[in-house]
Amino acid sequence: MHIHRYEKYWLAFGFLAILTFLGIIFFMAFSQGHHPAGGMHTIDPAKVDTTPPFDKPGLKKIGENEYEVNLVAMAFGYDPAKIEIPAGAKVTFNVTTKDVIHSFSIPGTNINMEIVPGHISSRTYTFDKAGKYLVLCNEYCGTGHHFMKMDIEVIEHAAQ
Ligand code: CUA
Repeated sequence: MHIHRYEKYWLAFGFLAILTFLGIIFFMAFSQGHHPAGGMHTIDPAKVDTTPPFDKPGLKKIGENEYEVNLVAMAFGYDPAKIEIPAGAKVTFNVTTKDVIHSFSIPGTNINMEIVPGHISSRTYTFDKAGKYLVLCNEYCGTGHHFMKMDIEVIEHAAQ
């Protein structure tokens, strides 16, 4: 089979372009330490109830104006189902699930985490405005999916 010289150049160019792009992707992924947006922490989904901190889910104050919320998602709700946090506080949500894939999504914020069995998804956020925020599950997880929600009440700072 005869291949024209220019066609060979063109094939070589295409091949090199693919290698270059793959090289860039690998370089960026490894040199910059890319990982899933929610983090790399894992957990045995069958032992969520006995694994700290998820054996005692809830809100914890971890510093001056800094909180941590450990949450378990399950069909069809979140534990805890309601939390209260002061406006302006830095809050880290650590969420895992005991059963199927859920999500932890707060409309009006950039929090939208996939909650996958075996993984702990984390996100830190500061609610600047007081008010009621609704946490929704946006992964279809069963017949009660549309009932799956949680409330976050962000309360105003105490007067200084
Ligand atoms: Cu949980 Cu949908």
